[in-house]
Amino acid sequence: MFRKILFRFSTYNFINVTQKGKVALIQFNRPKAMNALCDGLIKELNQVTQEIDSNPEYGSIVITGNEKAFAAGADIKEMQDKSFPQVQNIQMLASWENLTNIKKPILAAVNGYALGGGFELAMMCDIIYAGENAKFGLPEATLGTIPGCGGTQRLIRAVGKSKAMEITLTGEFIDAQTALSYGLVSKVLPVANLVEETLKVAEKIASFSKPVAALIKDTINEAENIGLREGVKYERKAFYSTFATQDRKEGMSAFVEKRKPSWTDN
Ligand code: CAA
Repeated sequence: MFRKILFRFSTYNFINVTQKGKVALIQFNRPKAMNALCDGLIKELNQVTQEIDSNPEYGSIVITGNEKAFAAGADIKEMQDKSFPQVQNIQMLASWENLTNIKKPILAAVNGYALGGGFELAMMCDIIYAGENAKFGLPEATLGTIPGCGGTQRLIRAVGKSKAMEITLTGEFIDAQTALSYGLVSKVLPVANLVEETLKVAEKIASFSKPVAALIKDTINEAENIGLREGVKYERKAFYSTFATQDRKEGMSAFVEKRKPSWTDN
């Protein structure tokens, strides 16, 4: 069903990358460590997502783990002996944020544990689907630290203050149905079907105009950073900019001419 992506950077130690149609599927591959997100994994993730983003063959990305764990957080063994000057000097975790610069839509398919940095990475994605066994949590307080990849900031925006405080201060996990009721995830699916169903949605997204998908992603994400008045202006400018694309012309012409559009912009 899948074929290997033949990128310039084509061998990975910590992830598997496959292609289905216009969708790139990235799977974390550290099963013995519950897919803990070590430095090497994040470097590979950043490199491959940037390559996919600039490759016109792809229209969307799915990120997943395995049935036990999406990812159980940053690698605690790598952090264990670090000092304050060390983490500050290397700006530890700062490069994780690169994922938020990817223009193509990213869907997270979460089975099993999505904890700490794993949950934070999922929240950087544009859509989260959860398997019935998913468990989300920010257990950093149990380790004597706090989330460092935007967990506190994104969680409050996703679920509001009281729930964000409860999840982060107690370190307790929430299950898939609770995550659904909080609006953190869009769907809960059977574990065995999760990736397949997520790929179907990713394929649908990838079948539309790429610049339009990038504009939708950008304008919705921008709402996290700016107020309503500025956001509405920002959206309108983005709307106007679609009139500079061939795809906007094609989409409206196809509607009027009662035919299927053919998207050509990359
Ligand atoms: N880092 C490094 N190794 C990890 C890990 C992590 N985050 N999570 C799990 N592992 C390793 C375990 O050490 C264990 O390795 P060994 O076999 O060598 O002992 C292996 O994965 C299997 O784990 P468990 O034996 O613990 O499996 P379990 O089924 O009993 O429990 C779990 C699963 C609940 C996920 C548990 O492993 C756990 O609580 N993991 C840590 C979760 C966590 O605290 N995450 C936050 C990390 S800090 C962070 O992410 C900061 C940030 O903001 C970026």
